[in-house]
Amino acid sequence: MTQPIIKKAVFPVGGLGTRFLPATKAVAKEMLPIVDKPLIQYAVEEAVEAGCDHMVFVTGRTKKSIEDHFDAAVELETELESRQKAGLLEIVRNIIPPHVSCSFIRQSHPLGLGHAVLCARPVVSNESFAVILPDDMVDHETGCLGQMVDVQKQTGGSVIAVDEVPDEDIAAYGVVSVDDDKSSPARVRHMVEKPCRTEAPSRLAVIGRYILQPEIFPILAKVGRDADGENQLTDAIAILARQQDVYAFRFHGTRYDCGSKLGFLKATVQYAMKHPDLADGFRKYLNEL
Ligand code: UTP
Repeated sequence: MTQPIIKKAVFPVGGLGTRFLPATKAVAKEMLPIVDKPLIQYAVEEAVEAGCDHMVFVTGRTKKSIEDHFDAAVELETELESRQKAGLLEIVRNIIPPHVSCSFIRQSHPLGLGHAVLCARPVVSNESFAVILPDDMVDHETGCLGQMVDVQKQTGGSVIAVDEVPDEDIAAYGVVSVDDDKSSPARVRHMVEKPCRTEAPSRLAVIGRYILQPEIFPILAKVGRDADGENQLTDAIAILARQQDVYAFRFHGTRYDCGSKLGFLKATVQYAMKHPDLADGFRKYLNEL
């Protein structure tokens, strides 16, 4: 059986980012930088590394800067050229490789992650595709999506990345139950969104990386809204898992939840300690602290 190749990556970035207010009143959460690159750029680089060549951004209000970030900046380039800043010019020109194309779709109301993914349907059409939530960052030699593409080549079906989280955090996540707790990948039996601690089927929480089959779209179109009026991707994947194989994969690497302030700060410290220009000075500063 030839497995489908994942060429399209969907970035649902239509959320309000309320946990970062007032910073996100007029600025997209995904444009907040970890050291010197915005979250969305790390996510796009991970998708490109995994073999995707079409980035599909599902945006909302305050997100125009994301479109500008991946577009040419003619005035800035001209200015840098005239000042002979070759290094900076290179950075600005190489934000995205030339073979990669971008589509932008507007999610007019933030009706949930499931709704955002459904907005990408006209562009994704009938292909398997990836979904990356830029506020989940995974630090590892091979990006999380690249690891999942390798898994998907072997298993077929859909693949979702999961992480074991402590009991007290479980109610913040979509949680899976799998056929075999000890194996990875493992077939998903069921999924629930934000269960209370006593009702969680496991401690395996879904993080912001998915490879999905296009059969998810008709399910998303039918699935209802939850108590908060949001259309949940988890509910749709739970239905998909009854119709075809969905695998939970425990990725390799360290995950940072950059949608929370603490996770964002942890990622900033970690990436600063690895940054070639900053590592020495930053470590010295931390030691002094
Ligand atoms: P979050 O639950 O983190 O919500 O969404 P949020 O709005 O981004 O942030 P907070 O909780 O208010 O601080 C998870 C992902 O789903 C996307 C978000 O942009 C984020 O990548 N999302 C959520 C949408 O694209 N559309 C939505 O309607 C809701």
